Amino acid sequence: MTLIQNFEASDPKLITGLLVLVPVIYILTRSYFSPSPASSVSSTSNPTEQKPKSIMQPARTDLPPPKDDPFTLDELKQFDGTQVGKPIYVSIKGTVFDVSHKGDVYGPGKSYNIFAGKDGSKGLGMSSLKTEHAVPDYGDLEEKDMKTLNDWHLFFLKRYSVVGRVVDLPEAVKNNEVSNVPPPSS
Ligand code: HEM
Repeated sequence: MTLIQNFEASDPKLITGLLVLVPVIYILTRSYFSPSPASSVSSTSNPTEQKPKSIMQPARTDLPPPKDDPFTLDELKQFDGTQVGKPIYVSIKGTVFDVSHKGDVYGPGKSYNIFAGKDGSKGLGMSSLKTEHAVPDYGDLEEKDMKTLNDWHLFFLKRYSVVGRVVDLPEAVKNNEVSNVPPPSS
């Protein structure tokens, strides 16, 4: 009997094997490639507990104190990485982060340049890289997307220095309280 005959489609062992294997492979690849920062920002109260392996950069402990310099959305545009010698800034919920040292990710032509030189909170919340979503009006996000956005905000607070805040966010989100320091427990 040939190998192919041994594994006919109707073989119950093969079908059972596939039924187990396919979901397992899906779950493993999905958690590895998830764009949500949630798994990499989740902290555990037990330091000996094994954290899930993350492809994201680790949190930093050497960040300078946050600055509170005012930026208009128009002023932010010059910090999109296209102007030599200028830093690259990303704003989330109005908090402006200096991401210059990750030019490989936020620089011109790189994967997440869509968020450089602007506040693209809505797109971050929606896990979208579309230009039309990279806008600051995050007020109408549904609950799960708002959580994703807050996770990103925390992710950035732990990894990038805060250089200021956007002073002309759209009316709907203008007065939202946004922290510019990571919580002490994290
Ligand atoms: C199949 C889809 C995706 C894959 C495989 C992927 C992969 C990655 C990888 C490997 C990193 C780490 C990059 C590094 O630190 O050098 C990363 C970071 C990141 N991803 Fe994605 N991603 C995907 C989709 C998305 C989407 C749709 C968004 C839109 C919000 C997104 C937003 C981000 C952001 C903001 C970072 C953080 C970069 C940082 O500052 O460290 N990703 N992603």
